Amino acid sequence: MSLLHHLIYQSNVVARLSASELGRLLEQCRSHNQQADITGVLLHDGNRFLGVLEGTPAAIAAVFNRIEADCRHTGVQVLADGPISHRQFACWTMGLVDDVSQPGGGVGDETIPCMHTVTDAALWLLLREFQVGAGRPLLLLPS
Ligand SMILES: Cc1cc2nc3c(=O)[nH]c(=O)nc-3n(C[C@H](O)[C@H](O)[C@H](O)COP(=O)(O)O)c2cc1C
Repeated sequence: MSLLHHLIYQSNVVARLSASELGRLLEQCRSHNQQADITGVLLHDGNRFLGVLEGTPAAIAAVFNRIEADCRHTGVQVLADGPISHRQFACWTMGLVDDVSQPGGGVGDETIPCMHTVTDAALWLLLREFQVGAGRPLLLLPS
């Protein structure tokens, strides 16, 4: 059994989050995920979230229980949940499909180092689709 899993989910915001609320969310995620050795990405376009969590099944289950119960979003839907051979993300980070004036940041440039498997390619397509759906460039915040 693989000790490394990923869980991919999407959800809708309950009410738009301000920049400072997003900053607080980012800090919560970063510090906890680092302690739990969870990597991944959280994309946000103002209305939707798309999250990828990578880690041991136990670590993912613990954090996802809290995420699901979080009242800042609703309609949490699991898109994928299963073993992976390697992590796609070196750390946990957050991408905002938010600010067209900021330089840089296609999802591919920073988040996907390389693709080895069909799952990697599918994840890449999912992240691109989210970005295209939002219709704006993605700004990736440093983790
Ligand atoms: C869309 C979304 C994604 C989240 N992702 C994470 C995450 O990756 N890691 C994490 O620790 N908390 C995440 N949270 C926050 C948790 O739901 C929870 O508020 C946080 O872990 C603090 O929990 P605590 O107050 O019980 O310590 C997320 C919340 C939302 C709305």
